[in-house]
Amino acid sequence: MERTFLMLKPDAIQRGLVGEVIGRFEKKGFKLVGLKLIQVDRALAEEHYKEHKGKGFFEPTVQYIMSSPVVAMVWEGKNVVAIAREMMGATNPANANPGSIRGAYAMDISRNVIHGSDSVESAEREISLYFKPAEILHYAKAGEEWLS
Ligand code: TYD
Ligand code: MG
Repeated sequence: MERTFLMLKPDAIQRGLVGEVIGRFEKKGFKLVGLKLIQVDRALAEEHYKEHKGKGFFEPTVQYIMSSPVVAMVWEGKNVVAIAREMMGATNPANANPGSIRGAYAMDISRNVIHGSDSVESAEREISLYFKPAEILHYAKAGEEWLS
């Protein structure tokens, strides 16, 4: 089953949006298979955002992600990578659909509440950055039979 890596960024934790955002993915029907509250260090932050190294927003983004704990998660489900990106909304909340997470809860591109992998390949890379294989759980979830 397809997996994605989602991270609730420092502003989400500081603003008390954790339950709200996790609830959206739960209600959609995706399955939570990995979850932890962590403090990201510089090495991990730079590795996470390495595709943006050299861009003007790289250092501020790295600083921001290290500024307070984040919630790192692995979610599973049919087409979860693309659907989670849709649910998150555009990178810049100013352009995000108001029904999306960023559209509903954020105002500035540099404080946009949530990270989500942009492809299945990115998801595999990001999951392995944040989770050991044993931290991703396999279990039956009641109600799964109603989703397909
Ligand atoms: P990016 O990977 O382009 O966006 P997304 O998070 O939607 O995959 O950029 C990573 C993060 O960098 C983005 O969530 C917020 C920050 N960022 C800025 O602060 N300014 C910018 O102009 C861009 C493009 C991104
Ligand atoms: Mg990205």
